[in-house]
Amino acid sequence: MSGFFITFEGPDGCGKTSQIPALAEFLRARGVNVLTTREPGGTEIGDQVRRVIMDLRNKGMDARTEILLFQASRVQIVEQVIRPALHAGRVVICDRYADSTLAYQGYGHQTDMTFLRQLLHFATGGLQPDLTLLLDVDVEEGLRRRQKGGGEWNRLDDYEVEFHHRVRAGYHQLVAEEPDRWVMVDAMQSREAIQLELREIILKRLSLD
Ligand code: TMP
Repeated sequence: MSGFFITFEGPDGCGKTSQIPALAEFLRARGVNVLTTREPGGTEIGDQVRRVIMDLRNKGMDARTEILLFQASRVQIVEQVIRPALHAGRVVICDRYADSTLAYQGYGHQTDMTFLRQLLHFATGGLQPDLTLLLDVDVEEGLRRRQKGGGEWNRLDDYEVEFHHRVRAGYHQLVAEEPDRWVMVDAMQSREAIQLELREIILKRLSLD
């Protein structure tokens, strides 16, 4: 596999979804063959699963159902979108990936991490990102941004604030465990400053600077 796999992670309201299109456009202008996609979703089946996961009416969803639905969507995107693009030598930028399961279902819902890692291996076939960017934002600020209209308020946003604090702390733990793969960006900065920092990091990793 000769492509390059970049994932974006962060607490809700960190702004990654608005940063990715500008970044992809910038890279394309530099001649990079970029594919952007997102989780959950990114395929026809995955988008159907996403609707079930996010629906505020599904408040009765067991945490184990949630874990498995995210993996169902993930299998489809890995096999139908990400692997083929990497095989074709493309740079794939994915808005969330397996680390979201570790942060949200692992740290957030306090599920056994060893089991989750095995499940992730089953879902991804062991496909790991080459680079993961954590857009780190204060939990309350992130949720404020979401409420102010950063996309539709969903079932995950609606979890109690302590859940979101565990997610953010979980991300920090994941960065500490694998510092070579992760780069943490301060998402409390202006949108423009974040974009510049992201461009710099990625150009360097792609040896284009
Ligand atoms: P987003 O598209 O706004 O980032 O929303 C996706 C939500 O789903 C967000 O709250 C994070 C959550 N999520 C998980 O809990 N586990 C996962 O594996 C993934 C991909 C997302």
